[in-house]
Amino acid sequence: MATPQHRIGSGFGAQSTAEEVLHGIDLTGKLAIVTGGYSGIGLETTRALAGADAHVVVPARRRAAAQLGRHVPREEMLAAGWIDEDGNPVTAGFKTPGQGAATQVWAATSPQLAGMGGVYCEDCDIAEPAGEGELTGGVRAYATDPGQAARLWKLSAELTGVDAFASV
Ligand SMILES: NC(=O)c1ccc[n+]([C@@H]2O[C@H](COP(=O)([O-])OP(=O)(O)OC[C@H]3O[C@@H](n4cnc5c(N)ncnc54)[C@H](OP(=O)(O)O)[C@@H]3O)[C@@H](O)[C@H]2O)c1
Repeated sequence: MATPQHRIGSGFGAQSTAEEVLHGIDLTGKLAIVTGGYSGIGLETTRALAGADAHVVVPARRRAAAQLGRHVPREEMLAAGWIDEDGNPVTAGFKTPGQGAATQVWAATSPQLAGMGGVYCEDCDIAEPAGEGELTGGVRAYATDPGQAARLWKLSAELTGVDAFASV
């Protein structure tokens, strides 16, 4: 049965960081593969998972870029008015990279989601359905439409020649 698309009250929110959602979670013996894990939000994800002792593999399609790792210096964020002197976001909706990485890290590791798969998440919790006319936040009805999902799966299988559920 599909998991309902409703918040579970994780105790985390929009300002939680990847490190915070991993507090008390030991990923020793776990293997994590972080695509794009050498830049931006992916880099923060890599850092957090490695900090919890996961073995992290970062596939890089451009080795030179991977060695650089994209980064916006604190001074630039300060000058742009994104953060204050203490490093806290001041622009509504702005997240630090650590906050931007938190939801995917929470979704990948939290025991709170055990047995609850196939859901859209937002701000370190399961996302609520978007209200009528809501432009940001929440999940649109078309994204959770089983008919659309079946159509997308069929098209993907045709394009790739791979249908993992063909014999099920
Ligand atoms: N930054 C934000 O404010 C924000 C907000 C909401 C959502 N997001 C989403 O979060 C994701 C990451 O954002 P970001 O700001 O961290 O971006 P980013 O710094 O540009 O990092 C993207 C990473 O993905 C890799 N990548 C892109 N296309 C790929 C492909 N086809 N195959 C393999 N690797 C690929 C890039 O590798 P290369 O270096 O080789 O290109 C890069 O390492 C994006 O989907 C973005 O839309 C970002």
